[in-house]
Amino acid sequence: MRFPSAFVVLGLSVGSAIAAPSSTIHSHHVVHEKRAAEPLNWALSHRLEGHKRLPLRIGLTQRNVHNIEEMLMAVSHPESPEYGKHWTPQQVVDTFAPSDESVNKVVGWLENFGFSRDKIKMSANKGWIQVNATVSEVEELLDAEYHVYKHAETGEEQFGCKTYSVPKEIQEHIDLIRPTVHFNHRPSPKSTTKFKRAGGLGMPSSSTGPKQSPNAKPVPPSLANCDKMITLDCLKALYSVPDFKPASKKNSYGIVEFTPQAFLAGDLDLFFSQVKIPCLDLSFLHGGSLSETFPQVLSEFGLRLCLSTERSVVVVAVVQTTNQSFDFNGESDLDLEYGMALVNPQKITLLQTGDLVEGAGFDNWLDAVDASFCTFEGGDVASQDGIYPDPLPGGFKGPESCGIIAPPLVVSTSYGQDEASATVSYAVRQCTEYAKLGLLGTTILYSTGDDGVAGDGGVCLNSTGQPVSNGTMFNPDFPVTCPFVTAVGATQVNPGSTVFEPEGACEQVIFSGGGFSNIFAMPEYQKSAVTSFLKNHPPPFTSAQFNNSGLSRGFPDLAANGANYVIGIDGEFSLVFGTSCSSPVTGSFITMVNDARLAAGKSPVGFINPAIYSDQFRDAFNDITMGGNQGCNTPGFTATEGWDPVTGVGTPNVSKLIPLFLSLP
Ligand SMILES: *[C@@H]1O[C@H](CO)[C@@H](O)[C@H](O)[C@H]1NC(C)=O
Ligand SMILES: *[C@@H]1O[C@H](CO)[C@@H](O)[C@H](O)[C@H]1NC(C)=O
Ligand SMILES: *[C@@H]1O[C@H](CO)[C@@H](O)[C@H](O)[C@H]1NC(C)=O
Ligand SMILES: *[C@@H]1O[C@H](CO)[C@@H](O)[C@H](O)[C@H]1NC(C)=O
Ligand SMILES: *[C@@H]1O[C@H](CO)[C@@H](O)[C@H](O)[C@H]1NC(C)=O
Ligand SMILES: *[C@@H]1O[C@H](CO)[C@@H](O)[C@H](O)[C@H]1NC(C)=O
Repeated sequence: MRFPSAFVVLGLSVGSAIAAPSSTIHSHHVVHEKRAAEPLNWALSHRLEGHKRLPLRIGLTQRNVHNIEEMLMAVSHPESPEYGKHWTPQQVVDTFAPSDESVNKVVGWLENFGFSRDKIKMSANKGWIQVNATVSEVEELLDAEYHVYKHAETGEEQFGCKTYSVPKEIQEHIDLIRPTVHFNHRPSPKSTTKFKRAGGLGMPSSSTGPKQSPNAKPVPPSLANCDKMITLDCLKALYSVPDFKPASKKNSYGIVEFTPQAFLAGDLDLFFSQVKIPCLDLSFLHGGSLSETFPQVLSEFGLRLCLSTERSVVVVAVVQTTNQSFDFNGESDLDLEYGMALVNPQKITLLQTGDLVEGAGFDNWLDAVDASFCTFEGGDVASQDGIYPDPLPGGFKGPESCGIIAPPLVVSTSYGQDEASATVSYAVRQCTEYAKLGLLGTTILYSTGDDGVAGDGGVCLNSTGQPVSNGTMFNPDFPVTCPFVTAVGATQVNPGSTVFEPEGACEQVIFSGGGFSNIFAMPEYQKSAVTSFLKNHPPPFTSAQFNNSGLSRGFPDLAANGANYVIGIDGEFSLVFGTSCSSPVTGSFITMVNDARLAAGKSPVGFINPAIYSDQFRDAFNDITMGGNQGCNTPGFTATEGWDPVTGVGTPNVSKLIPLFLSLP
């Protein structure tokens, strides 16, 4: 499923041209970025009219980014003396702000071209420069050609160029320029297409009676059907989840959803009534229009509704209830029902992102939580800036111009796009932001995708890395391949097994996304685990299928059950499958860990990967050694002893994880 595009041609203002460009010589231009992959289903329609105006944004090169892995390790590695000493937002801004030289060179280039200085604007953190220019001006400035593309089925339009250039002498000062080659690949939810509707399914009843396998201990009635239906009881048994009573008031947990995907209040009510969880307290970040427009949603369910789009007006419409079906509600209902129920009464922050007209991408929620990432206008809307300084405990006290909420201490996102659809510059810049959030003490979880080694919809790549229907090269997901996020794969209770027997990799309806990145290099923290996998269990593939150099980022990092979840959806109970299930559940577990640490006066865990790969934590994971992640007409990789590119280091044992993290400084 694809979301509507963010750069809709109709939305463009057709204004008069700004300053007439002086003629420039392009002899010293070098190509800066090329379209990563031609998007499927979008056909070239026509040239974009030269008089239309574009909000051109230039992302400047940031300082110190080459040291970011080291900086993140210092606060995240269990053996580091700096463990848990997270940074302030101001430290992040100061450390990575572009140099004055970068600012001056790029502004000089624009002025030389003919833009007057008062037309050139800069974001507060100096990360972005913006100028409004006509299409003709941009085409000349960047040596590019803009075209309009039309979606074959929906007729939606978006525009872009295939390649653009900048003068050689300023190239090193620019990360990327938008809107250019970055075709809008909307984040896809990781459960929807794999939905298996089990109409009228009730919650498992205890009358079914216990099922006993020969060598297992007696199975209580509530756990009798976990191989067919996963419930909260099944998860608690599988992962030895202790009873949870929040002890800290400083804790937070955020779940990202992309509109038009939205929860239905009635579905949450249905689910919570069955699992006997009361409605949660009302807490939301700002009043006014929101509570007036959605009084029922907010007062009935007490979500902390956070809005991460640049325009508050349309935000109000994002928890849409017009379209109701699994495709519109499945992901949100699932994430919130399980995420909330496991940590109840800990509140959850819903990072509902984007509006109905344009949708949103990963950058939009980053804008909302990350002051150092804001695109030019991010956070500049008065009604959103009004909430600073954040009155909530642990609130974000950074610069007012960007970021509308404090980053929650754990954020789970069950959406992704094919890595092949992102340009390297775009992927790297976004990945850097996840490292910054880690420096601030936030844990970022992404689901790995549901197509095994294949990409969205089972599509694989040809030898030049383009998605094609008969591709044979594996097609990893993004942003989950970013080495600064925690990648969560999926397991299952094998058919006929109980929760007291080892799980396998998920092989029902979906296959756990996993493999190796084609963009990101292997981070230090996983070198020993991944190298050992490649050496001791060499996969039966060559470089024609995946980057087998032993130098690229392997994923997932860990896994949790992703099969047969019972959820309330569109008024009834049904089963869902996907790494979409695994990520919010893992987020709840890390939220429990954070509660214990915060209550003990310690910092949150932040970026967990260096810890979970360490020897010290080996025991806290159930190694998964059955199943694989087929795709691209292959059996995929195979789960095996130790780390593997199907289930990572395994599934968590929460009873062990909590004291281990608590023992760190
Ligand atoms: C660009 O144009 C829009 C709409 O006309 C305006 O709101 C915005 O402030 C302008 N931005 C700059 C940097 O001039
Ligand atoms: C969503 O609802 C609107 C309004 O009823 C309708 O026009 C639109 O076709 C629906 N979209 C889908 C995909 O069903
Ligand atoms: C890969 O697919 C793209 C897009 O269909 C095509 O342009 C390119 O030539 C293909 N490369 C090879 C080696 O087949
Ligand atoms: C895939 O399809 C294209 C176009 O039909 C064809 O040129 C190419 O040889 C096929 N590749 C494989 C590996 O079958
Ligand atoms: C494999 O990954 C490494 C590390 O990112 C990279 O240097 C290398 O170029 C990649 N190889 C291929 C064939 O893409
Ligand atoms: C998890 O750890 C606890 C505490 O050490 C232990 O009792 C339990 O058996 C473990 N669970 C699994 C599934 O190994």
